[in-house]
Amino acid sequence: MRVLLTGGAGYIGSHTAVELLQSGIEVVIADDLSNSSLNAVKRVEAITGKSVVFYLADVSDTAMLRTVFRENRIDAVIHFAGFKAVGESVAKPLKYYRNNLCTTLSLLEVMNENGCGKIVFSSSATVYGDPDTVPLSEDSPVKSGTNPYARTKRMIEQILTDFNAADKGTEVTILRYFNPVGAHPSGMIGENPNGVPNNLMPYITQVAVGKLPKLSIFGSDYPTPDGTCIRDYVHVVDLAKGHMAALNHSAPGVNIYNLGTGKGYSVLEVVDAFERVNGVKIPRVMAPRRAGDVAVCYSSSEKAAAVLGWHAELSMDDMVRDAWNWQIKNPDGYAAE
Ligand code: UD1
Repeated sequence: MRVLLTGGAGYIGSHTAVELLQSGIEVVIADDLSNSSLNAVKRVEAITGKSVVFYLADVSDTAMLRTVFRENRIDAVIHFAGFKAVGESVAKPLKYYRNNLCTTLSLLEVMNENGCGKIVFSSSATVYGDPDTVPLSEDSPVKSGTNPYARTKRMIEQILTDFNAADKGTEVTILRYFNPVGAHPSGMIGENPNGVPNNLMPYITQVAVGKLPKLSIFGSDYPTPDGTCIRDYVHVVDLAKGHMAALNHSAPGVNIYNLGTGKGYSVLEVVDAFERVNGVKIPRVMAPRRAGDVAVCYSSSEKAAAVLGWHAELSMDDMVRDAWNWQIKNPDGYAAE
């Protein structure tokens, strides 16, 4: 089996490439490296001892995609490519709509031309918005979204549903990720944010390594036991294995799965786990709430377990250990190479 990974040089794509290669699947990556590094691909090859076919390609470039499909018989696609910074999407909505939607449309057109109807899409728990109840199941209401990034995820889910409605033989799997964190245990690949991180775990690791002075904890007056927000953090290697399970299982129709652990941790619990496991102090200050944050968000992972046979195996201790291992081995991310 040969699988095309759009955005396969990115954080989740590179970890998924490792799992696929280690299962004997051939991997083709199309990535424009706008928010990723070719070094990630080289390190995927080093970890697995296998080679990847790499195209420096903007996935909205239909002609380029045609070349990829002509030169490689693609059996399935995992579509990771997309912009993902919530704040930037508010400031630059057109950039987000153009990139995230046009890449998807070009990809589906070229898949159609080539008779390839199997796609796994990187969606997000962000489509649930501010949940009415937790845990969130796949049947929980989907909201219109509080920012353009969230809306692109929801729009792409709808585009994929229409793609399948027009050809019932196609196999569409939508994976709604909760909060991916951690890194490959080798410390060779991991999350490599541009500039100051927006997300909690890379912010913590950059404070720990001394690149940032202190962590601001956004909000301590939420209706949670310790007043800080609760999220469902999932180890990126577990998440990568979820893609394997989805590829192995996909069936005609549109199938949606939450990928989370089913367990929520507060911001303070994550910081405490990081300090305890890694023996590093994280200077922190309590700060006002961040606009757009919801108090509590965690998954029911029962459907993925029942249908895909997938459940997260790695713990919060594994997540904070591996995030730190990646950071100390690569204080400047991939930039050092
Ligand atoms: C965020 C996005 C979500 C996206 C996901 C991708 C927002 C509102 N949501 O999720 O749409 O799918 O990233 O990874 O941006 N926190 C701090 N201090 C920090 C950073 C974060 O206290 O410096 C807190 C946040 O308030 C939140 C928790 O840590 O309670 C997790 O934040 P983050 O890692 O940014 O993830 P989400 O906001 O859940």
